[in-house]
Amino acid sequence: MGWLFGNKKEVDFSFLKTDIHSHMLPGIDDGADGMRESVHLIKGMYELGYRKMIITPHVRFGSFDNDTGEFENRLQDVRYALEQVNIPMELEVGAEHTIDEGFYGHFKRGELKHFGRNKYLLIEFPFTSLPMGIKDTVFELQSAGYNLILAHPERYLYLREQPDMIKYLHDSNILFQLNILSLIGFYDKPTQKFAEWLIKQDYIDIAGSDLHHQKHLDGIAKAKTNKYLYKLTESDRLMNSMF
Ligand SMILES: [Fe+2]
Repeated sequence: MGWLFGNKKEVDFSFLKTDIHSHMLPGIDDGADGMRESVHLIKGMYELGYRKMIITPHVRFGSFDNDTGEFENRLQDVRYALEQVNIPMELEVGAEHTIDEGFYGHFKRGELKHFGRNKYLLIEFPFTSLPMGIKDTVFELQSAGYNLILAHPERYLYLREQPDMIKYLHDSNILFQLNILSLIGFYDKPTQKFAEWLIKQDYIDIAGSDLHHQKHLDGIAKAKTNKYLYKLTESDRLMNSMF
C-alpha cells in the first residue's frame, strides 16, 4: 500500500451524517439572515457529506426572545426553499436554550423546543459563569423526561477550573456536544486547548457545527484534516448518526 504513504487522514463528514446544532432559520437570531443564505449554507453542508440537520435557533433572555411555537412553520419555509433547488437535506427543528432568567418560565409554560424521538433538549450555559442551582435544574429537567445535550462545553472556560463539575454533568447523562470549529482555533486558543482536553478525557459525545454563516462553513471544511476531529470520528464514541 505504498502509494498511500503520505496521505493525510481526512474526516468523512458523511460518517457523521447528522448535525444537531445550527442557526439556519432565517432572520430570527444571529445565524442566516435571509432564506438565500440559509439555502446556500445548508447546500454547503450537504456537499460536505451531511444528510440531516437539526436547526436550533437561540432562545436567550433579552437578546433572542424567540417564540418556539413559530419554529415548525418557519422550518416548512426552509424545506420548501431547499426543494426548489433539489437539495434533499433532511431537516428538524429544536432550539438552543440558554439557561438564564427566562429559561425557567419557558420550562414551566411548556415552551422548551426539544427534538428527535427521545425529547432531546440542547442547552447552553452563560459564557461568564455556571448557572446558579444547575444541579437542581438538571434534576428537574430530567425528571420531566428531557434528554439533555450541553452545547459546546469547551466554550465555558470557567469549567476548566471545575473538573469535578464537568464529571458530575457528564456522569448525570448529559451529552456533551463539541463545536468542530473549536478544534481549528476559530474562537480562541484556550477554547481549542480545552476542546482537545475534553476529547482526550473521552467526554465528547457529539460533534456539531453551530453553523451561523459562511465563515463557519469554511471553518468546518478546514477541520477535515484536524487530527483531534479525526481521532474523535475514529473512536466510535460519536452519536451524531443516531439523531
Ligand atoms: Fe449555537
